[in-house]
Amino acid sequence: MMNDLFAGPTEPLGDGALLLRGFADAPAADLFAAVERIAAAAPFRHLVTPGGFRMSVAMTNCGAYGWVSDRKGYRYDPLDPESGRPWPDMPPLFAGLAARAAERAGYGNFASDVCLVNCYTPGTRLTLHQDRDEGDFAQPIVSISLGLPATFLWGGLQRSDRARRLPLFHGDVVVWGGPSRLRFHGIAPLKEGSHPLTGERRLNLTFRRAR
Ligand code: SIN
Ligand code: FE2
Repeated sequence: MMNDLFAGPTEPLGDGALLLRGFADAPAADLFAAVERIAAAAPFRHLVTPGGFRMSVAMTNCGAYGWVSDRKGYRYDPLDPESGRPWPDMPPLFAGLAARAAERAGYGNFASDVCLVNCYTPGTRLTLHQDRDEGDFAQPIVSISLGLPATFLWGGLQRSDRARRLPLFHGDVVVWGGPSRLRFHGIAPLKEGSHPLTGERRLNLTFRRAR
């Protein structure tokens, strides 16, 4: 089992939160190929916030639900609003890797039903926010980084709490849950660069339990 072999460095990020450096290195090329298949069926799009702003990050989803935003609000939807069809299935590789990362951080039996895929190009950012549209905050969030490096903003439980700036590299996985589940987080504007696997992009997969 991959989990048993993982001996990479880990960095605690507070109660219930752990950074697993390089946890997704080995399967990265397969993850990326699966993202390309998902994006062929459910293309990346820039969602609009309830306030009417176009998000700079491009997103798609796979799994039983997808996270969507429009003028009516944020929600998990079993159908892709662009096509009216269900989101692409979650590849078994995704679900298994997310469950092993969660377990490594102390969360057994994590069965994600959504993988939100974010695509960043240079200049793209994600402002500080909480992941709070899910039904059960006992379930953690598992986040996998691929491609260009980024600066993760890791805040506290209040929006005004000072955020740490942590570099995230290709293959890194962050898990947050328990007392850290509702911590604010974001991504600083992506720097220019090119990565051998993803080109001028960073991809992020976040696994959640929506329902
Ligand atoms: C997110 O907060 O949904 C994504 C974070 C990231 O891109 O690392
Ligand atoms: Fe988030």
